[in-house]
Amino acid sequence: MEDKALLAAVSVFALLVVLSKLKSLLVITKPKLNLPPGPWTLPVIGSLHHLGTSPSIHRAMRRLAQKHGPLMTLRLGEVPALVVSSPEATKEIMKTHDIMFGDRHMNATIATLTFNGNDIAFAPYGERWRHLRKICVLEMLSAARVQSFRHIREEEVARMMQNLAASAGSGAAVNLTKMIARFINDTFVRESVGSRSKYQDEYLDALDAVMRLTSGLNVSDLFPSSRLMQVLSTAPRKALACRNRIQHILEQVIQDTKESMDHGNEVATGSEGFVGVLLRLQKESSMAIPLDDNTIVADMFSAGSETSSTTLNWCMTELVRNPEAMAKAQAEVREAFKGNSTIGEGDLKELSYLNLVIKEALRLHIPAPLLIPRKCRETCQVMGYDVPKGMVVFVNMWAICRNPKYWDNPEEFKPERFENSNLDYKGTDYEFLPFGAGRRICPGINLGVGNIELALASFLYHFDWKLPDGIEPKDVDVCEAAGLVGSKKISLVLHPVTRIPPANVD
Ligand code: HEM
Repeated sequence: MEDKALLAAVSVFALLVVLSKLKSLLVITKPKLNLPPGPWTLPVIGSLHHLGTSPSIHRAMRRLAQKHGPLMTLRLGEVPALVVSSPEATKEIMKTHDIMFGDRHMNATIATLTFNGNDIAFAPYGERWRHLRKICVLEMLSAARVQSFRHIREEEVARMMQNLAASAGSGAAVNLTKMIARFINDTFVRESVGSRSKYQDEYLDALDAVMRLTSGLNVSDLFPSSRLMQVLSTAPRKALACRNRIQHILEQVIQDTKESMDHGNEVATGSEGFVGVLLRLQKESSMAIPLDDNTIVADMFSAGSETSSTTLNWCMTELVRNPEAMAKAQAEVREAFKGNSTIGEGDLKELSYLNLVIKEALRLHIPAPLLIPRKCRETCQVMGYDVPKGMVVFVNMWAICRNPKYWDNPEEFKPERFENSNLDYKGTDYEFLPFGAGRRICPGINLGVGNIELALASFLYHFDWKLPDGIEPKDVDVCEAAGLVGSKKISLVLHPVTRIPPANVD
């Protein structure tokens, strides 16, 4: 809030400068480079005044790109930015020039949260990132590891179904958004630590606070060279407080895991959690690049849990908004598992429509609407324009996935559009990249989708879903919250009605 007021004050100041020097400002100096076009800029704030007040900057960027084209230059305060809004331009960035755009944009907030890019997601492109990525792909998120977490997902889904059945019995409405966030977080913490943790509520709360700081529009992120803005902005202090909270929790988790390992309680490598994997590797003297505790802490900040819960939440939101799709998905799952009191992961292959629902929710509600911003490492040419070194790159996948040029009736939720189509999210169809593409593509696709599928199938199998009195399906809100992840702003509140009672667990 304070940051917004500060930004408004800076804007007013910029406007006054303009009014006093209007004539000279209208003389546009000819750029030496052939930059992609963009809207006119003001001194100090650059293009910020074009973004409007909506927290969803991907929407404002789409509006501007419709006028200026699929490669557009913006200046966000001091930060030069390239906005990419077509599959062709995306392919050039993420395939043709993948190495040139292999860096991440590190703003002040992200730097604080990740110990200056100590984690894999924000590590600069290079040896260290390659090393962390290898650990991530081969050790932490391999198919075998994801499979080894199956019992965790099945237990956590069963626990959630039982809680839902209890609410259904009392006729109470449930805040499904909160319930999903807790389920994904509990699952993710168990996958990280290998067991339930006494710190999980605290962790969920701290992660939630982190997400609200990652819009990239904090004044301290927009004016990185201004010491005054660093002091006046509240974001750096909030980010530091969040990081300290999470660091404190994770240090205790790391300590507990180390003690457990020292007492000879090392788990078999097939079933250890992420923290256990990293601690095991930390001990190995043959490691080319040592893993310190801060790296382990920073890596556990992963947006993996927020993106997964956001996707599951949007799946349910769109299904209640579209009763025909809901009926079709329920009919499929109930037919496939007729007579079972519970569903396991092994059975999910049968559910083709469910997978279309997940794909369509990923298309309509790209979990990271601007992906995770990259940075240009060397000046290069893209589609005939110069892109200077240091320029931050926002791929507006949200806009591409809603562009009528590539999708029929793009604003409609229509899982059938993926039927008999080879279009997939694995990084080669540039009009549909919810997980990104190229060298820095999300390595957590299997885990992310795995954490969603069983829960969604179980929601549809065991329950019917009623909206609170007086709310029609089309009234269900679809606004996104601010931040790197486009989560649902207003919680989804529904009445579960038990159709097939879930089995008791304990
Ligand atoms: C629905 C779920 C998820 C979505 C939509 C998603 C999306 C993304 C996107 C868009 C990127 C940036 C890709 C690029 O720059 O091209 C990314 C990177 C990443 N994701 Fe995911 N993600 C999900 C789940 C997960 C999970 C479950 C994990 C692990 C626990 C994970 C770990 C990572 C990591 C480590 C990176 C950084 C990779 C790098 O920079 O080399 N993600 N994700």
